[in-house]
Amino acid sequence: MAEHIGIVGAGYVGLTSAACFARLGHRVTCVDSEKSKVDELGRGVVSIAEPGLAELVAQGLGDGTLTFTTAQAELHGADLVFLCLPTPPAEDGRPDLGVLERVVPQLGRLLRPGCVVVTKSTVPVGTAARLPGLLGRTDLPVAANPEFLREGHAVDDFLHPDRVVVGTDPPGAAAAERVARLYEPAGAPVVLTDTASAELAKYASNAFLAVKLSYVNVLAELCERSGADVREVARTMGLDARIGPEFLAPGPGWGGSCLPKDTSALLHAADSAGVDFGILRDAVRVNARQRARVVRAVRQAVTGSPAGSLAGARVGLLGLAFKAGTGDLRDSPALAVAEDLARAGAELTAHDPAVGRVPGASAVQVVDDPYLVAKDAAALVVLTEWPEFRDLDWPRLAASVARPVVVDTRNLLDPGALAEAGFTHVGVGTRPHTTPSE
Ligand code: UDX
Repeated sequence: MAEHIGIVGAGYVGLTSAACFARLGHRVTCVDSEKSKVDELGRGVVSIAEPGLAELVAQGLGDGTLTFTTAQAELHGADLVFLCLPTPPAEDGRPDLGVLERVVPQLGRLLRPGCVVVTKSTVPVGTAARLPGLLGRTDLPVAANPEFLREGHAVDDFLHPDRVVVGTDPPGAAAAERVARLYEPAGAPVVLTDTASAELAKYASNAFLAVKLSYVNVLAELCERSGADVREVARTMGLDARIGPEFLAPGPGWGGSCLPKDTSALLHAADSAGVDFGILRDAVRVNARQRARVVRAVRQAVTGSPAGSLAGARVGLLGLAFKAGTGDLRDSPALAVAEDLARAGAELTAHDPAVGRVPGASAVQVVDDPYLVAKDAAALVVLTEWPEFRDLDWPRLAASVARPVVVDTRNLLDPGALAEAGFTHVGVGTRPHTTPSE
């Protein structure tokens, strides 16, 4: 059954949800307070680089199932309204609910009785339960339906989710069934639960991924010291169905717009509830240490000592985004490492296929041509796992560096091929590779 769906907030989550619900045959009205954004979207201009999103927006606009507006009043006839509002971390790391607290009372004055109000973007545990109070209404059922969208895969994750969780109090209320029905075409398992469990499930999932990654990053350090290879260890672990192969690749640390924010929010929630979530605090601590480990590896590569000086050393960086497939620099470990290297006195040139510049007064010179980063470099450092870095002409890079050494923080490159090109390859959790392969 086609519903009239209102989406409040045309950011990353809101726009993806709006376009995908329209794709699933619903009539979608997407409201955002920013006029220029609404105007652009109305013309089909999508500034978020997400595969398939611009096409879905164009399709929805074309067949009239998707509209963008600044006028909240257009939500009056909606059957369900999804809140996709930002909850950025405040100074102390707790989510700032200011926008939600301002917008929800406005909605309370205009929605028609029976409209289901749903939280979609990540909100602290207890937020859905607060909605009736904020709405000032008891005739608007509320539900929590957190998203699990990865950047670079958001459309696919929305249309083909691993699971759908819908929280209502009590669980499985009529409103939950209506929300769950929207996702029926996906055929994914649906968890109908209470609102607090649905909200916590989102934080718990992201924080678990963070713990898994910190675990593997420490494991990599142990591998380096014990002569084991973390890729072999992780491959073996991943074949255990209880562990699974995903999120077992070590790197310069985990980042992005969600994992750090959600981990910090969950830690605050645990503290407030008097629960000592030590394992999560450790995961955060390990993550901060991971950047220092990369800097030490670069010092070692450039000077032969983990404490050697990088003052004046030219270092070429491959990758700045927090992961491949996006140009997002928010909480990017790659950028954090770059800043630490700059503070240590290194002169940095960087290339990232999706990053044209680093905002603010950055010490990193960004270049369009990956071969420019190698010029006179005392070391090259791979920080983001862009597959195209594998296909670079490594002998050509070897010809222009000052010292042929690559610190590969993602274990992205083929050590044998690099050795053939004349490079020493330093991976994470692996032994340095210098001998050309047969
Ligand atoms: C994450 C969650 O996956 C998603 O479900 C949630 O809704 C939003 O947050 P995203 O921020 O897009 O998605 O990034 P993700 O692909 O999960 O990667 C997170 C970080 O972990 C990145 O810094 C990435 O480089 C790092 N990572 C991931 C590794 O270092 N190794 C891995 O094996 C996997």
